[in-house]
Amino acid sequence: MRNLIRILILGGTTQASELARALVGRADISPLLSLAGRTQNPAPAPIPCRIGGFGGAEGLARFLREEKFDALIDATHPFAAQISANARAASATSGVPLLVFSRPAWEPGEGDQWREVATMVDAVTALGEAPRRVFLTQGRLQLAAFAAAPQHFYFVRAIDEPEELRLLPQHKFISARGPFTLEGERELMRGEGIEILVSKNSGGGATAAKLVAARELHIPVILVARPEAEGAEEASRLDEVLDWIEAHRPAP
Ligand SMILES: NC(=O)c1ccc[n+]([C@@H]2O[C@H](COP(=O)([O-])OP(=O)(O)OC[C@H]3O[C@@H](n4cnc5c(N)ncnc54)[C@H](OP(=O)(O)O)[C@@H]3O)[C@@H](O)[C@H]2O)c1
Repeated sequence: MRNLIRILILGGTTQASELARALVGRADISPLLSLAGRTQNPAPAPIPCRIGGFGGAEGLARFLREEKFDALIDATHPFAAQISANARAASATSGVPLLVFSRPAWEPGEGDQWREVATMVDAVTALGEAPRRVFLTQGRLQLAAFAAAPQHFYFVRAIDEPEELRLLPQHKFISARGPFTLEGERELMRGEGIEILVSKNSGGGATAAKLVAARELHIPVILVARPEAEGAEEASRLDEVLDWIEAHRPAP
């Protein structure tokens, strides 16, 4: 019998859920999924789950030590920069090995009209002066930046209704949780007369359909580039993550 490996998974993404599902029923792995608690009704977790912050990098390092974890997997969103920095620091101080389970950034293909910008504030500027019907899919974060351009009509899609929505004089809120289908995205964009799409360059399959729909409908896209993640071991496929877990199983 192989030694049990105890893993902490920092989640809140489709990829973390995919990993969690892959670990169901594995008697040789003891996983704990950690969520920040941002979503009011998170999708039910198929493995043990905890909700809420750790209290910074020191709190996370303490948690790893006290709960005797053998490995840490950062499967958070590529734009969740704080928790990823905390994971790197906590791994360094606790000695618990870290793997970043990240998805490759989206790359433009033929027919795409993409403009990549560095920040959400730059995305607002890139919308221009003339009023447009804008589809915002970057979630509730940084919605306030768009208050600087009230001439546009904003279609905001998120899981929970963001409080900052009231800062946008012309808007429609669409409550939805991915994954999204190409057919659904096409219908939504055509039906609402969307003229431009703003998104974070999150990567991954669950929310990529909007980009294909935008290409088909000749809708330009403003993509906010992801923050750099420096210095951690990375994997982008589930089988690589499972191999990494195996390689970090404690010796008998
Ligand atoms: N940013 C996005 O665009 C985005 C999109 C989709 C999903 N998400 C998910 O939403 C969550 C929050 O994102 P964010 O951008 O607000 O994070 P963030 O700015 O990087 O983190 C802020 C703080 O939230 C807590 N936290 C974040 N993720 C956590 C997790 N998985 N488990 C426990 N605590 C966590 C930590 O608190 P302490 O310092 O107290 O430990 C962290 O310092 C993440 O889990 C992320 O995967 C984010």
